[in-house]
Amino acid sequence: MNLIFLGPPGAGKGTQAVFVTKEYGIPQISTGDILRSAVANQTPMGVKAKRYMDDGLLVPDDVVVGIVEERLASSDCDGGFILDGFPRTVAQADALGAMLHGAGRAIAHVISFEVDHSVLLGRLTGRRMCRSCGRGFHVLFDRPSVEGRCDACGGELFQRDDDKEETIRRRLDVYDEQTSPLKSYYADKGLLRKVDALGTIESVQSAIQCILVGR
Ligand code: AP5
Ligand code: ZN
Repeated sequence: MNLIFLGPPGAGKGTQAVFVTKEYGIPQISTGDILRSAVANQTPMGVKAKRYMDDGLLVPDDVVVGIVEERLASSDCDGGFILDGFPRTVAQADALGAMLHGAGRAIAHVISFEVDHSVLLGRLTGRRMCRSCGRGFHVLFDRPSVEGRCDACGGELFQRDDDKEETIRRRLDVYDEQTSPLKSYYADKGLLRKVDALGTIESVQSAIQCILVGR
């Protein structure tokens, strides 16, 4: 099953991808995680991407399309995948469509995380990420069992550089301008499935499960 998770920063895409990956055994492909790892390793791509990410802007389309093309060619995507945070522009969606068409693959569902922007600031300022495995936690809504440590791997938890109020506001504006048009893009193709992402982590999880099992 090939899925796209679409939604604004902090909507819960990464949080829910963990559950779907576990349940269906398909990998989560997060362009944000791949870019952050390139930044941490100071690769040429990471050096280029960092200044866009620090400013809350989108990294150029050709860079992310290249990342996804390479990642989808990997054999662990043969049984399906979750694209988390990609596509984010119409140009990226067109490139993905061409890529999948050429490989005889198709998207099953585009899950749109419907959430009011007013809750996102609180979700993102309280988010803590694992430095080793990238899992996200929250200081109020998803607390780790041991303060400052990841439940999955014991790694150190940290706050993302772009989870600062000013940068979050920029990321939300960028989402509204450049990414939200993808909702009608995929609705027109009959692929858009909306979930109410304002509820608890568990309620969002069951809403997604209903879509995936066709209820
Ligand atoms: P990226 O890493 O993709 O960030 P994002 O889209 O801004 O989304 P987030 O990861 O911040 O949010 P999420 O929806 O996954 O929320 P989460 O589950 O963590 O991108 C970062 C940057 O990389 C971009 O700004 C851009 O520069 C670049 N980039 C990446 N992809 C790109 C692309 N395709 N093109 C161009 N540039 C690209 O949840 C957030 C918090 O809320 C957590 O603490 C969680 O515990 C908590 N939470 C989750 N669900 C709930 C709930 N239901 N109730 C209460 N709390 C909840
Ligand atoms: Zn971890």
